[in-house]
Amino acid sequence: MSTIESVLKETRSFAPIDAFRQNATLSGMEAYNTVCERANNDYEGFWADLARELLSWHKPFTRTFDGSNAPFFKWFDDGLLNVSYNCLDRHLDQHGDKTAIIFESDDGQSTPISYRSLYEQVCQFANGLKKLGVEKGDRVVIYMPMTVQAVIAMQACARIGAIHSVVFGGFSAGALRDRIIDAGAKIVITANEGMRGGKTVPLKATVDEALDAGGCDSVEKVIVQKRTAGNTPMGARDIGWDELTAGLPLDCEPTWVEADHPLFILYTSGSTGKPKGIQHSSAGYLLGAANSFRWAFDYKPDDVFWCTADVGWITGHTYICYGPLAMGATQVVFEGVPTYPDASRFWSMIERHKVTTFYTAPTAIRSLIKLGADLPKQFDLSSLRLLGTVGEPINPEAWMWYYEVVGGGRCPIVDTWWQTETGSAMIAPMPGAVATKPGSCTLPLPGIMADIVDESGAPVELGNGGFLVIKRPFPSLVRTIWNDADRFRKTYFPDEFNGQYYLAGDSAHRDEDGYFWIMGRIDDVLNVSGHRLGTMEIESALVANPLVAEAAVVGKPHEVKGEAVVAFVVLKGPRPTGEEARKIAAELKSWVAHEIGKIAQPDDIRFGENLPKTRSGKIMRRLLRSIAKGEEITQDTSTLENPQILDQLQEPA
Ligand code: PRX
Repeated sequence: MSTIESVLKETRSFAPIDAFRQNATLSGMEAYNTVCERANNDYEGFWADLARELLSWHKPFTRTFDGSNAPFFKWFDDGLLNVSYNCLDRHLDQHGDKTAIIFESDDGQSTPISYRSLYEQVCQFANGLKKLGVEKGDRVVIYMPMTVQAVIAMQACARIGAIHSVVFGGFSAGALRDRIIDAGAKIVITANEGMRGGKTVPLKATVDEALDAGGCDSVEKVIVQKRTAGNTPMGARDIGWDELTAGLPLDCEPTWVEADHPLFILYTSGSTGKPKGIQHSSAGYLLGAANSFRWAFDYKPDDVFWCTADVGWITGHTYICYGPLAMGATQVVFEGVPTYPDASRFWSMIERHKVTTFYTAPTAIRSLIKLGADLPKQFDLSSLRLLGTVGEPINPEAWMWYYEVVGGGRCPIVDTWWQTETGSAMIAPMPGAVATKPGSCTLPLPGIMADIVDESGAPVELGNGGFLVIKRPFPSLVRTIWNDADRFRKTYFPDEFNGQYYLAGDSAHRDEDGYFWIMGRIDDVLNVSGHRLGTMEIESALVANPLVAEAAVVGKPHEVKGEAVVAFVVLKGPRPTGEEARKIAAELKSWVAHEIGKIAQPDDIRFGENLPKTRSGKIMRRLLRSIAKGEEITQDTSTLENPQILDQLQEPA
């Protein structure tokens, strides 16, 4: 992997090719600059125009922005609309027969679903939710495989004003339970089993385990989609999806909600052990999703878009469930994994479905290079016209491969920087205008006032690094943390930055051309295969194990995953060595997988009699990071209480 230094020396630059630029919505730098200027000169007018152009309102808004209760900002607050209406109903007259979703199952079956059919299925399921007593503002947890039903469940919640909280299907019963409790969910929607890479995933059993552990008293019913033929026991609180919807009408009047009515809560990791419930609005969020989808992917009505994310993450919310549907696009929804039945699955799908716009994560690109750098050449990928990446920095080698081998040198690479909190892409090259540089997410979308500042909040000069901030609130920004407004203010609008700037939590650098280069998190958050993990969450999981006295978790660079998890552990008993250490390490790895999910499992566990601490008892994390990387220790260790344990911690279990 490239080091930060080599990334910053990157000098290659790729202007959009003529054929692309000529047909692009934002064509050329002049067009891009004009839209940016409009946003600079009349910020509220800029967003108000977009909100009128891209969204359908039941009652038009008259107020664009209300900052009187900063940082709890309101957008379009006296308007009424419905998100599902915007994603479905309004397309029916002219495009009812257009394919909304091409669903490809794990085992390779593909099924097209028209906008009309999707509308009917959403309405019918929304009627099912109503039958169970779900009302506007109720929370519904969705713990589903990557099936069309997951999208239907989300859209059905939006239709009746219920607030969904999707929990990634790879999370454990414990993680699911925490989220159900924090959200106070009334309903859980799941499938009997998921299918991934030819294997079943026992989703319903995990829901049972979560609910049976107690504390989830708010849950009244569990709706179970029968995804596989597997025989899953159903109890008194369970109801089958088909049984619930049988005979229900295929239309359902949308519930009109206020613009800032919460559309969903999505939990994400921060610097404490407790995940944050990121609460998004209806109108502002949808506007960000639709507009960024249109601009960043240069959306055209005959495109076939494919975002490979899971709906359990923000990318799947914004660029599967909401953005493409709001724009009336055709998209591929894929249930499986890139390596099943073999490593050419993605390329074969692009060929078969004539995908024009492909959006995936650097970690997937890196693993596919490893598994067969020449494989794409065996497929006809000529339908592709744009390639996107998201979730973590992309190293220039992977970028170049994506550009040349997958994109044939004709497709712009749109590296999109954004977060669960921002709701939609913030910094990304407008593909018909901005020249790309491998490893840089380039320039902000028009209307996004991104900047880099020092610890006092003052802007740093071009060519320097600092904290990435967004200087003005924008419509798709997180509204609050569910149940924790105070944490919201302190985390994102800290006093050090005058309470004015949204503090993203990333460090970044800007080059002489003003291009942004994301360097990584400034907090204790790791990015493993594009998944955001809090080191504190993993530490809490480890110390919950009866053998463990203390644990510290850090990241180390990893060729494919971007970052890998390294845990330094002190046991209650004596420090293990040799075979015993390996055995306990394996046990602790599966423990973390069971407590949080496989994605959080440490790659490497080291045992010490203690952790390196200062005399005041603070764990020296910087030192642990160097040890994890295998670097020579150059830091001053004279304040260390117990220098001899450094040797112990350098030994892998
Ligand atoms: O560190 C940044 C990294 O992912 C974090 C956000 O994670 P999450 O909320 O899970 O959302 C991921 C998908 C939008 C950011 O704080 N990140 C995201 N995109 C990029 C990135 N780092 C570098 N380049 C990107 N394009």
